[in-house]
Amino acid sequence: MTKKPRRYHITTFGCQMNKADSERMAGILDNMGFISSEDPNESDVILYNTCSIRDNAEQKVYSYLGRQAKRKHQQPDITLIVSGCVAQQEGKALLRRVPELDLIMGPQHANRLQDLLEQVFDGNQVVATEPIHIVEDITKPRRDSKITAWVNIIYGCNEHCTYCVVPNVRGVEQSRTPEAIRAEMEELGQQGYKEITLLGQNIDAYGRDLPGVTAEGRNKHTFTDLLYYVHDVPGIERIRFATSHPRYFTERLIRACAELPKVCEHFHIPFQSGDNQLLKAMARGYTHEKYRRIIDKIRQLMPDASISADAIVGFPGETEVQFENTLKLVEDIGFDLLNTAAYSPRPGTPAAVWENQVSEEVKADRLQRLNHLVGVKAAERSLRYMGRTEEILVEDINPKNANQVMGRTRGNRLTFFEGDINEIKGKLVEVKITEVRPFSLTGEVKHLAAVNS
Ligand code: SAH
Ligand code: SF4
Ligand code: F3S
Repeated sequence: MTKKPRRYHITTFGCQMNKADSERMAGILDNMGFISSEDPNESDVILYNTCSIRDNAEQKVYSYLGRQAKRKHQQPDITLIVSGCVAQQEGKALLRRVPELDLIMGPQHANRLQDLLEQVFDGNQVVATEPIHIVEDITKPRRDSKITAWVNIIYGCNEHCTYCVVPNVRGVEQSRTPEAIRAEMEELGQQGYKEITLLGQNIDAYGRDLPGVTAEGRNKHTFTDLLYYVHDVPGIERIRFATSHPRYFTERLIRACAELPKVCEHFHIPFQSGDNQLLKAMARGYTHEKYRRIIDKIRQLMPDASISADAIVGFPGETEVQFENTLKLVEDIGFDLLNTAAYSPRPGTPAAVWENQVSEEVKADRLQRLNHLVGVKAAERSLRYMGRTEEILVEDINPKNANQVMGRTRGNRLTFFEGDINEIKGKLVEVKITEVRPFSLTGEVKHLAAVNS
């Protein structure tokens, strides 16, 4: 009798970092002979890759886990794994909450999944949350897309923003070598990938943990140097990166982006608050004036660049006037996109225990007011695309209309147009924009002749 293939299911919460980790863990499971499945209830290995950035993200996983823990009572052979940021934050405490768990593994251990699973299959309940040096991945990630790919360049974060769990759960900064990054990109180029997003929680910190200084005494490996080193990888047509930190963002980087043709004119630079006192309380290390100077410089060198950011409302002590300073910054800059969130107190972070917490009602009201302004400004920003011809990298069909395909402009606006996905998937197409909405566009192919390979 042949043995039924063992199946695995991964649900991923949180940011691109977690999505990239999940793709590597899926690659490891494929390599071990498991078959991927969409349905956790049909799977033998169930992995939840978790996020703890805000309380609602964390709570979600507990309800998912509860269901699988129950199933395990009927099917004791299934393997239940929690990885990612909640795993790191809670560690062993998760076992008290969900004793059915087989494996708890922090983000730094993602590449060790095979090792850890083998210990589980030997009959152990395993908790892997000790800080380690992240081992280079030797397995091929199972990537969701064949067109766009993430490439980690720096893990962890050494900042101590007073609201944020990331340094607690992702550990200290660890940069990959430029050679390893370029090698991964070259392989992706050979496989037909067209767009790479370089990833780090604080990408501007890239290289500060790597050895070497230049003749002028500057660190040899900066993010800007990395861009010059990887920008010409054959096959790759577009390079993006996230997340930038205003504290470390340099004019040299802006110049590199303006100069290197494959680097897209899109910057994701979270500002968090438009008020200097709050920025200080958050320990962000810059003022709103400095932030505005960065944006001015970008627009001076790249007038059409898209700017996106993250912001928090209702940070402890935030007054109405301070909140209005955030509105003012959004009004003045006019973001193409702004991710907004109400402050959520997180375990082990300084601001969580301050006494000047803002009420949930006030947070909800401010969030709504900010989101309204964000929509108005995004709609204004979209207007500039009207009638223009934009280069779109075709990624997939429009899930809501099979006659249309979708892709993104270099500035990262989602764009829909009529076309045959089988013909143009993965291609750069010149599209004339005929309709604009706050966060997406519609257009028509201008010249099919302009379609390249
Ligand atoms: N490294 C990036 C952000 C990573 S977390 C940076 O420094 O900007 C992604 C976003 O989640 C943050 O930009 C912030 O806006 C939001 N966030 C982080 N902690 C939060 C908290 N405790 N409550 C609400 N939002 C939070
Ligand atoms: Fe969190 Fe600040 Fe690090 Fe961003 S820079 S991940 S907000 S601690
Ligand atoms: Fe969440 Fe961890 Fe990313 S907390 S936002 S998954 S780094």
